[in-house]
Amino acid sequence: MRIYMEADYAAMSKRAANIIAAEVIKKPDCVLGLATGSTPIATYKGLIEKCKNGELSFKEVKSVNLDEYKGLAGTHDQSYRYFMQENLFNHIDIDVANTNVPNGLAEDAEAECENYDALVASLGYADLQLLGLGNNGHIGFNEPDAHFTKATHVVDLTQSTIDANARFFASADDVPRQALTMGVGCIMAARRVLLIASGEAKADALYKMICGPITPDCPASILQLHPDVVVVGDTASLSKVVEAGVKVCE
Ligand code: F6R
Repeated sequence: MRIYMEADYAAMSKRAANIIAAEVIKKPDCVLGLATGSTPIATYKGLIEKCKNGELSFKEVKSVNLDEYKGLAGTHDQSYRYFMQENLFNHIDIDVANTNVPNGLAEDAEAECENYDALVASLGYADLQLLGLGNNGHIGFNEPDAHFTKATHVVDLTQSTIDANARFFASADDVPRQALTMGVGCIMAARRVLLIASGEAKADALYKMICGPITPDCPASILQLHPDVVVVGDTASLSKVVEAGVKVCE
């Protein structure tokens, strides 16, 4: 695991955008695994800028997103499909037909999950999987549990996740209670994982992920078993990791 510590959110985002850009330059038809949430917004802005100034093209890139709220249409302004359109896809030259987000409105959610796994497998899995980190250690919507779930599945969101995401909705009552999420199988099958984190609220989860035992109680801890993980955090999110004496690159 390589850990980069940047001064703040802006610097963290710049490094993350550079790492993703390098992947796209190296392999123009790469498969990018993408995340939503507040953390990647400036990373996506960096990619948009590089695309607009001609440094980067996404024409041949394919993408697979981690998750979607169950019950929200892609046109709902809090759906993850909508987020991706607004924060990335509408502003770059990617072919929208090559972008994939689980369908939150699928009548048969279990079948949608199975199909999503088959789709990601048919694309050969992600060359680079971008991840944010939940305050409770979740990746995608793999919530703390008694076991790791390998396949894409429907998950009951924990109260901590509902509370954390309530800021995007009119009230906590409006936050969907379930989501469709890639399991740890697809995430671990990615050739490289790039996890980004910012702010003090992530310090505990990042510490447990990097320094704690590998346990489904902190789903991100499974990344300790992945051969190519790059973590980009800011000083606040990495404070406990640094305190524990883990070596970071600056
Ligand atoms: C989003 C996702 C989640 C978020 C995590 C952090 O697609 O899969 O795991 O990455 O909840 O969210 P933010 O970035 O809002 O703190």
